[in-house]
Amino acid sequence: MCDEHGAADAETDGPPTSGELLAQHAPALLHEAQVGLFVLDVVDQRILYANPYFAELVGRTPEELLTIPVLDMVEPEYRNLVAERLRERIAGKPVAPYTVIGRRKDGTNFDAHIAGRRLEVDGRLALVVTITDLSDYNRVLRQTQRIQAQKEAAEAAAEAKSRFLAAVNHDLRQPLHAIELISTALRRTQAHPAALLLCDRIDQAATSMTALLDSLLDVYRLDSGALHPNVRTFPVGDLLRDLGSEFGPVARDRGLRLRVTRTTKTVVSDPAILRRILANLVNNALRYTQQGSVQIVCRRDASGVRIEVRDSGPGIARDEHERIFDEFTRGTSSADCPPGTGLGLNIVSRMASALQAPVTLRSEPGRGSVFAVTLPRGPDVAIPSAGQPAEPAAAALPQFSETG
Ligand SMILES: Nc1ncnc2c1ncn2[C@@H]1O[C@H](COP(=O)(O)OP(=O)(O)OP(=O)(O)O)[C@@H](O)[C@H]1O
Ligand SMILES: [Mg+2]
Repeated sequence: MCDEHGAADAETDGPPTSGELLAQHAPALLHEAQVGLFVLDVVDQRILYANPYFAELVGRTPEELLTIPVLDMVEPEYRNLVAERLRERIAGKPVAPYTVIGRRKDGTNFDAHIAGRRLEVDGRLALVVTITDLSDYNRVLRQTQRIQAQKEAAEAAAEAKSRFLAAVNHDLRQPLHAIELISTALRRTQAHPAALLLCDRIDQAATSMTALLDSLLDVYRLDSGALHPNVRTFPVGDLLRDLGSEFGPVARDRGLRLRVTRTTKTVVSDPAILRRILANLVNNALRYTQQGSVQIVCRRDASGVRIEVRDSGPGIARDEHERIFDEFTRGTSSADCPPGTGLGLNIVSRMASALQAPVTLRSEPGRGSVFAVTLPRGPDVAIPSAGQPAEPAAAALPQFSETG
């Protein structure tokens, strides 16, 4: 196509210009190009030259390409379009690059992105056409679009679920609160033991429902991504003392001792989330322990501050240690207990993950359970929390082997 340039260069003085070098190496460049390229005679619409990349792309030899109509390399439904674009190019009209389905010799397809321009080759009008195979690109694009659509559908479903949970939570809390008020009012007007017993039942039912709504709210916050830990340094003793006050009456009703250790330790965490974690653990301990005690113990260890909820309850078999942290999963120890949803420990583990606070369990059937959460330690404060028992000696507590 342009080999006379080499002879001209040899006659000029000095080093060749970049234009001359380009002209000299053009055939090699076209040959090696990693894009399909062919030169089309506009009169008989036959290929005059095709580079190896194009030949490979359409699954034919370069020689074979010189003998077949160019439209044979396009799927039939695109042939009119390609013919029309060729006519426009030949007429000198501007034609933007476009994509059609190309056809290989073996009948397989590829996404052919076509661009071209008019050119004079050896005094004849020709078109130089480049073909880029967009199959891989389009495949990835389609996959990405499919994944994006699936992600959006999953997000929409999660959002709908969250909205539903939030609405249920809101709508049920108000009548529940009213039931609690009515029960309190009723208790004041009734002295009959049977009536008071019924008031107790109403209170128990309301308490269970409040706990369930708290769990639903937790799940809603976890699922919707609305749980944003607000981490700060705070004295853990205050939080433990509050838990003691909250659960003291429950323990008394169940005939159990609830002991909370006094501590001046501080931790770096989110107090509200930590409180929900510990409340779930204490609630379980009090629910599943038939007699004896529940202790909330705080101790320092190599990784930070470890808060343990220990109980003298039935214990948990080893093969259940992992499973009970799954959603809606209850263990054998709950067989004779009031109905629960099996959500508590799942919430504990998800919230603990949000706090990056590992949760561990030591337990064996008949030897009680120790659930522990470990938090980063802050500086100790010199404010002793009064009125609480000191931390019991470690030796006085049951010893278990570590799991999880
Ligand atoms: N302190 C414990 N002692 C013995 N078994 C326990 C203890 N804590 C949890 N379990 C077992 O783990 C199971 C799962 O506990 P989880 O808190 O997730 O659900 P739940 O208490 O059954 O129901 P929910 O907390 O949703 O009301 C319980 O059903 C129980 O069998
Ligand atoms: Mg529970």
